[in-house]
Amino acid sequence: MSYDIAVLPGDGIGPETVRETLRVLDATADAFGFSLTVQRYPFGGNAIDTHGDPFPEHVRTAVKAADAVLKGAVGGPQWDAGPVRPEMGLLALRAELQVFANIRPVRRWTTRTSSPLKPELAEGIDMVILRELTGGLYFGPKELDDEHGLDTCAYTRPEVERIARRAFELARTRRRRLCSVDKMNVLSSSKLWRAVVIDIAADYPDVELSHQLADSMAMKLVEQPAAYDVIVTENMFGDILSDLAASVGGGIGLAPSSSVGVGRPGLYEAIHGSAPDIAGQGIANPTATILSAAMMLRDLGESAAADAVETSVIRLLNEGPVTPDLGGKATTEEFGAAVVDAVRTAAEVISR
Ligand code: NAD
Ligand code: IPM
Ligand code: MN
Repeated sequence: MSYDIAVLPGDGIGPETVRETLRVLDATADAFGFSLTVQRYPFGGNAIDTHGDPFPEHVRTAVKAADAVLKGAVGGPQWDAGPVRPEMGLLALRAELQVFANIRPVRRWTTRTSSPLKPELAEGIDMVILRELTGGLYFGPKELDDEHGLDTCAYTRPEVERIARRAFELARTRRRRLCSVDKMNVLSSSKLWRAVVIDIAADYPDVELSHQLADSMAMKLVEQPAAYDVIVTENMFGDILSDLAASVGGGIGLAPSSSVGVGRPGLYEAIHGSAPDIAGQGIANPTATILSAAMMLRDLGESAAADAVETSVIRLLNEGPVTPDLGGKATTEEFGAAVVDAVRTAAEVISR
């Protein structure tokens, strides 16, 4: 099989983490007997610099035609003052691909990580945050002038229904527990959210459903993160809670994501940002982007290859040299090279 991958390296540490991920993908394709055609495109801040647009027209056409889109983080302080921000390109990309379901798995990938929690609390963390990605506060009507700023959190029943169904389906492939997070004590959009989730639950009697208000969910994720299986929530709550969850799971440098809609292409990106504070130093942790690429391989149907990448990364996080965010001294490149070796070894073992 052959797959067309549109790659958006991005800004800051984006290109650094994507470079290692492409090395891993190359070696994986080679070892597992499929091929990847990789095309790189300007996107985000770099595209503002070269094209005056974070998401140029030719990139729009290319991502829609690809089998999958692999993306590095975008943004940085150099674009803060401009009329158009790199992040606007990202929202337009998600809308263009109609990837309304953002899957953010958080696990305790390694016992060596610097989870800020006591080990006994971090033990057993294994959840998926399903974040609604193309609606809510990010996409409602907006206004801004010098005296007034407005964002609107709006949802329709069909928008909540489709993400709720995904959440119940996902829970069925896991421990069959779903927690829906909202703020129905205050927000109308959340009242609708909760009512719709309860309606959809009737079709999934085998899944245990609970509800949690977003503020106390932040507390629960710190106090008992291992209690959660699948969490489904609105775009903005999901953004905030997934950084929190990633941190308690062992660090933001580890947390991958896939974003899917109906059919292809899916979008695969780390949940972390462009980390301007460490960009250019060659020390960013590429794990989150590599694990996002593993999610991509699984969605493309290359599940043996996806498993090999994932198990290789987990083994190295536990046993190999790690990057400074995890207390090690490895560079981005050294970690990437170690994953390449580990995937090749895993493929040899499988083929024996
Ligand atoms: P950030 O995630 O970039 O950084 C937060 C902290 O985590 C920093 O200390 C950083 O060094 C560290 N960190 C993040 N990823 C790391 C990695 N892979 N390895 C080691 N350390 C890592 O968040 P921020 O500073 O709030 O945002 C910076 C920029 O990134 C902003 O412009 C923001 O809009 C953008 N951003 C983009 C995306 C995306 O493109 N998907 C996601 C989040 C933020
Ligand atoms: C993320 C990021 C983005 C978001 C920004 C960069 C627009 O924080 O992917 O989590 O808020 O969705
Ligand atoms: Mn975020």
